[in-house]
Amino acid sequence: MERLSDDQIKALMGTPEYNQSHLFTADSDHATIIQQLKYFDRNYPGGIKNYIARARRLLVDSATGVNPLEGWSPSAPESQLVSPELNLDEFLSLEQEGLSEIAHSGIVLVAGGLGERLGYSSIKIGLPVELVTETCFLKLFIESILALQERSGTHIPLAIMTSEDTHDRTVDLIKTLGHEEYTSTIYLMKQEKVPAIIDNEGRFALEKGQLSGKPHGHGDVHILLYQHGIAQKWLSEGKKWVMFIQDTNPLPFKVFASALGVSKKNNFAMNFLGVPRIPKESMGGVARLTKPGENDLIVCVEYNIIDTLMKSSGHPGDISNRELGVGTPLTADFSPFPGNINTLLFNLPSYVNALQRTGGTMPEFVNPKYADATKTVFKSATRLECLMQDFSKMFNPDEKAGFTMYDRWISFTAVKNSLADAVQKVQQGLDPWSAGMGENDYYYCNNKLLQLAGANIEPPNQTETFSGITYKFPAKIVLHPSFAVSLSELRSKVQGRWDISARSVLILEGKNTVVNGLKSDGFLHITSSQENVEKTDGVVPRYVPVEENDKEYLKIRGFKMIHV
Ligand code: UTP
Repeated sequence: MERLSDDQIKALMGTPEYNQSHLFTADSDHATIIQQLKYFDRNYPGGIKNYIARARRLLVDSATGVNPLEGWSPSAPESQLVSPELNLDEFLSLEQEGLSEIAHSGIVLVAGGLGERLGYSSIKIGLPVELVTETCFLKLFIESILALQERSGTHIPLAIMTSEDTHDRTVDLIKTLGHEEYTSTIYLMKQEKVPAIIDNEGRFALEKGQLSGKPHGHGDVHILLYQHGIAQKWLSEGKKWVMFIQDTNPLPFKVFASALGVSKKNNFAMNFLGVPRIPKESMGGVARLTKPGENDLIVCVEYNIIDTLMKSSGHPGDISNRELGVGTPLTADFSPFPGNINTLLFNLPSYVNALQRTGGTMPEFVNPKYADATKTVFKSATRLECLMQDFSKMFNPDEKAGFTMYDRWISFTAVKNSLADAVQKVQQGLDPWSAGMGENDYYYCNNKLLQLAGANIEPPNQTETFSGITYKFPAKIVLHPSFAVSLSELRSKVQGRWDISARSVLILEGKNTVVNGLKSDGFLHITSSQENVEKTDGVVPRYVPVEENDKEYLKIRGFKMIHV
């Protein structure tokens, strides 16, 4: 298409293969549309023709109700439960195994999502994880990497996938975070939108006289890592592992080392990290799929497909182990398919091999919302999408994908939903995934880890309700990444007797900080080694409801912190 004149492109778009002549109206901006078409044709594997052909095929399948997993039987994948509460020695030993691999690892953050459900006007990685220090997600990730670098003595690279919606603001945010020596090494890869589609013919949508684009999904990250040569570069630098993380889960570095230990021990090409999944939860489930004559696959099945899959095997839908009559008392309330949290750990040599074989192109799907039963009209434009977890389908049969099960408190929470939606989720018995509950979950994780390190922490003794969501905030504990990168290191820092009250606010910071004896019933920020610290003054920061003129990052929580 590159070498065609504008008139030739218009003529080509009128052919049945494309069927896009509706784009060139009296009011539309022909020159811009032609530039957009050329750009997309250059960047999309197989060009526009391929995009339209795939869209038409997938839209027919969608309208006729084709089950994408027809013929495949799902079963629960084997998984290793890694729980410091249930088996501390095993957790510590996996962590040690993993820590010896940290120097050979790199991190990829996918941060191109619009965040429509949250309804925040700026980028999600700029939101504070908690209100005690107001450290934002990206800073937490970077400081976690810096702490690991300090222990391993090696540069641990970070690549971030942005999109048109998030790129410029990510660049601006990085400039405000400090740590310039490190942040200047971050690779940014921008994903492009794909044309929005208005009907089953695959005709493109116009918006203000130009082509309208929609996000293609986080599956683009693989193609970009390949096209930018980043995965290959890391491999040539001696890296062996790469962890993929999402924008608003503050916990991936709490499990990174132990998951590396699991991957190394089991020789996993890909390790899905995950949690027990509640039936009907909007979280994909990991399953082993079997089909006569085909190699087994370990894949993440999206939550809407789980329902179809279960029904096609004669079950009433997405139900629990108890209803299926399988599992143990511990797993009775959960889905047989453990929940994928999209913290994915890859063995880099296997990953790069697969990239070289496939170019990193992920399988696509389409999810149109139909206006009526004819399934010919959409409520709003749709597009092809792809998911990063589908990479498990790219491996050779001798390359194993596995699943590591964690408790939710140590591995996953997220900030995805507006307050109104979060209230509804709570009413349905699901995690709210709101900004406020994400903060609560972050403190809770730090409480549990400190308890496992030997501290006595008073359980929360009161509830607080803000904007319809009830919290039982535990002590507001911030473990700065520099303080400890593993539970074993944390255990070495907690010496003597530690007593922390439920209303305490405590920040622990510094690689060399060891505290021997602590009694806290107030606000404490400890940055150096100390003996017998005692803080029992009456005033601690507390939460109060937001007001009309508070900033947006507070309003999406429903509360703010005051220091009186
Ligand atoms: P989410 O499921 O949170 O979706 O993405 P989202 O697009 O950010 O938010 P909604 O659906 O509009 O409310 C999971 C992760 O994938 C990234 C997100 O930034 C997040 O880290 N993502 C999502 C991308 O990088 N690109 C995409 O096209 C979509």
